[in-house]
Amino acid sequence: MSYDLVVIGTGPGGYVCAIKAAQLGMKVAVVEKRKTHGGTCLNVGCIPSKALLHASEMFEEANHNFETLGIKTSKPKVDWKAMQGHKAKVVDGNVSGIDYLFKKNKIDVHTGVGRVLGAGRVEVKAEDGSTSIVETTNIVIATGSDVMPLPGIEIDEKTIVSSTGALELEKVPNRMVVVGAGVIGLELGSVYARLGAQVTVVEFMDKILGPMDADVSKQFQRMLKKQGMTFKLSSKVTGVQKKGRALEVTVEPAAGEAAAETMDADVVLVAIGRRPYTEGLGLAETGVELDERGRVKTDAHYKTNVDGIYAIGDVIVGPMLAHKAEDEGVALAEIISGQAGHVNYDVIPGVVYTSPEVASVGKTEEELKAAGVKYKSGKFPFSANGRAKAMLHTDGFVKVLADAETDRVLGVHILGHGAGELIHEACVLMEFGGSSEDLGRTCHAHPTMSEAVKEAAMATAGKPIHM
Ligand code: FAD
Ligand code: NAI
Repeated sequence: MSYDLVVIGTGPGGYVCAIKAAQLGMKVAVVEKRKTHGGTCLNVGCIPSKALLHASEMFEEANHNFETLGIKTSKPKVDWKAMQGHKAKVVDGNVSGIDYLFKKNKIDVHTGVGRVLGAGRVEVKAEDGSTSIVETTNIVIATGSDVMPLPGIEIDEKTIVSSTGALELEKVPNRMVVVGAGVIGLELGSVYARLGAQVTVVEFMDKILGPMDADVSKQFQRMLKKQGMTFKLSSKVTGVQKKGRALEVTVEPAAGEAAAETMDADVVLVAIGRRPYTEGLGLAETGVELDERGRVKTDAHYKTNVDGIYAIGDVIVGPMLAHKAEDEGVALAEIISGQAGHVNYDVIPGVVYTSPEVASVGKTEEELKAAGVKYKSGKFPFSANGRAKAMLHTDGFVKVLADAETDRVLGVHILGHGAGELIHEACVLMEFGGSSEDLGRTCHAHPTMSEAVKEAAMATAGKPIHM
């Protein structure tokens, strides 16, 4: 059997690309080494983390807001096993959904490790060691990314864990040290902080969520501190010693001048980034070029330097986000089938699913300043929003950044409850090149949190109604 397209890796990039290609009439197969599809995102990333985030947020809500809302219950307790059960059920439901979609779209599944033998040929090595060759016109590498290790610190996924182990801890630890105040560190750190752990986050830079708008990052850190998390910024972890059942963590200033200090912990979560995964793919032998950071090099149409071999998702340049991988999967299937596939990299939202959430699209104030762009800023706090007050979710704000001359919206940053949903009206507006006046004049239903987005847009002209 020869295929039009063989996709290696069935994460959000690969499985979406396979389905779109099949919808466009191609004969498609996928190669996946895991037993289940959906990649990092569905198995050990986006989906299980969101199941635990939601459950821990409900626990927090019951503990802190129910009484104010006039609901009397006995004090809620955490049933960790049941919470893990909820997570497992959500993951199962999602990964089996991909099996269904592959069948529906007549996509053949080859289970095993894929290795590119050259243009048009992929070897699949099954778990029992047997190999088979799949022939195809086009190959897509969608092998994703893996945990970035911290030199000198061995991850055992029991007490010194990556995100994967952190999703599977045997119990809620008393003390947790998180290395890296990025997306994983803050999402998973906040889960355990809500469930009762003392969480200390050690971050190399002088701010949390490095690439985010500084205004957002500063206020967000204050909120997390109020929630009980401790931060050690401009610091790095240089060692973790096992002392019986406990861990001794050595922390040094990032600049390395002052003396090191030690901290005790039950669990250390290493979350200092992820790196592209190309191990065993045979790319060097095939002549497929990588860049200086080990990512597969492609042109603007996802083609590598070898004809017939393409790459998408975490394994190539750009933000390591599931929706970025998915959109590239669709665009590439369209390009291979002769259509004009395209991803607008200026409008890719980023969401941190903490409580409250952080959502952002487009440029930050720092980026605009650095680029010398003249801009105006409008800000509106949720404390002045009626719906937020009714829900006891008044923390945070919306910030709209627009071009000073043309009024075109260049960036929107939201810190607040449901920010991850609210951001999308800004994405649609920006996709159409809209202005802050367009946003401010669009009728928003009352009472909704979205009204804060409209008011922030009006504030760019200095004229919000409710402030
Ligand atoms: P992956 O999802 O990594 O999939 C690659 C697949 O390729 C895997 O299934 C792997 O087994 C397979 N593979 C690799 N090599 C081979 C081979 N040689 N042969 C066969 N198969 C192979 N992103 C978001 O947008 N939102 C979130 O909320 C979010 N949360 C996250 C939470 C965590 C804890 C983590 C770790 C990540 C999170 N991400 C999130 C990032 C997101 O998971 C990735 O951006 C996304 O999964 C990338 O998709 P991909 O298809 O490129 O690769
Ligand atoms: P990250 O890049 O978001 O953050 C890593 C942090 O670790 C940075 O702030 C960095 O300065 C810091 N750091 C690096 N080395 C350090 C050291 N030695 N000591 C202390 N701090 C150090 O990476 P993270 O959180 O591991 O996430 C990986 C990827 O997964 C991200 O790129 C993200 O896009 C994706 N992801 C997305 C999510 C979402 O969209 N909600 C959720 C989780 C992950």
